[in-house]
Amino acid sequence: FEDGLLDRFGRRATDMRLSLIDKCNLRCTYCMPADGLPWLAKDQLLSAEEVRRLVRIGVDLLGIGELRLTGGEPLVRKDLEDVIAGIRADHPELPVALTTNAIGLDKRAQALKDAGLTRVNISLDSVHRETFAQLTRRDQLPAVLRGVNAAAEVGLTPLKINAVLVKGVNDAQAPDLLAWSLKNGFELRFIEQMPLEAEKTWQREATVTAAETRELLSRSYRLSPTDEDRGGAPAERFDVREIDDDASAPVLGRVGIIASVTEPFCAACTRTRITAEGRVMSCLFSREETDLMDLLRQGATDEQIAQRWAEAMWAKPAAHGTDRPGFDLPGFTRPDRSMSAIGG
Ligand code: GTP
Ligand code: 5AD
Ligand code: SF4
Repeated sequence: FEDGLLDRFGRRATDMRLSLIDKCNLRCTYCMPADGLPWLAKDQLLSAEEVRRLVRIGVDLLGIGELRLTGGEPLVRKDLEDVIAGIRADHPELPVALTTNAIGLDKRAQALKDAGLTRVNISLDSVHRETFAQLTRRDQLPAVLRGVNAAAEVGLTPLKINAVLVKGVNDAQAPDLLAWSLKNGFELRFIEQMPLEAEKTWQREATVTAAETRELLSRSYRLSPTDEDRGGAPAERFDVREIDDDASAPVLGRVGIIASVTEPFCAACTRTRITAEGRVMSCLFSREETDLMDLLRQGATDEQIAQRWAEAMWAKPAAHGTDRPGFDLPGFTRPDRSMSAIGG
């Protein structure tokens, strides 16, 4: 593992995504079932100390350069501030981001910032209360908006908003969400819906594609691709101007589109994932998982853990293949987990 988290295709994972909990307080239709998903018991989850140790192994032995904490919903962990403070004590410079739905963030944003959190990405698919409730099966938009504002106020920035468009539900509202993000100075990214929902209802034809998203936005705004190098970043970014303006007019802000399904970015992937129960997933769509929890709890050395993690990443698949027609036909098997149990 001296060369870090390499795979057979020459990619190197430097971006660690760790899920802290599988539970969530929303039930987004593209992720979770309305009810009936069993939760992990508390002692099955990585503890704050175990998380801290895995991050130390990742950074000190395996070349990890940035960390993202995910869920389920990571704010459901009452010890999130302690988790972050522990990591920060070991790594003063490590960028530590959080992917969250922002419920409860209003009361915790300052403490999280003080503990050493760098920035947040907030999932928000609609700024219309009824549509939000329809998509998430919970009437929680006001709480989310309070959380968003608090995060911005305490400087958990740049603040990004992640939105999934669902045909006939919130797709027509895409420009409203962009207007709201521009007004507040947030960077909005639209994510193509991937077949990772618990209920297995995904259909290629029902996916709002990146091209369709661009078209929806172009009815209200003028978009032009930025000339930046994307690296391993999933989003293609666009400068946004008023619809009647030409290219010399000032930009209002930026918007990103993440084309996970129609234009996968697997060849440039730099991600390694750890689930809430301490298993390595080399890819969002991995069917194989490698347990690190047993090593952690059986007194293994840092080197032994690093070695098993590196072996798991070596087996990372070349690509997920959801862009291929036939992907949803017999022959392809989805991961056993829904997005909520992977972390996104
Ligand atoms: P930034 O560093 O802020 O750009 O974060 P990010 O975009 O990597 O993180 P975030 O958790 O906000 O991810 C946004 C969404 O992009 C995820 O929820 C996924 O839907 C999608 N995504 C992230 N990583 C991957 C990946 O490795 N593969 C695919 N196909 N989609 C991904
Ligand atoms: N496809 C794409 N993105 C998804 N997310 C959850 N489920 C899916 C899916 N099936 C996104 C959420 C959140 C992040 C954690 O993952 O919107 O931003
Ligand atoms: Fe990487 Fe897998 Fe995501 Fe593709 S789907 S970009 S291989 S983690």
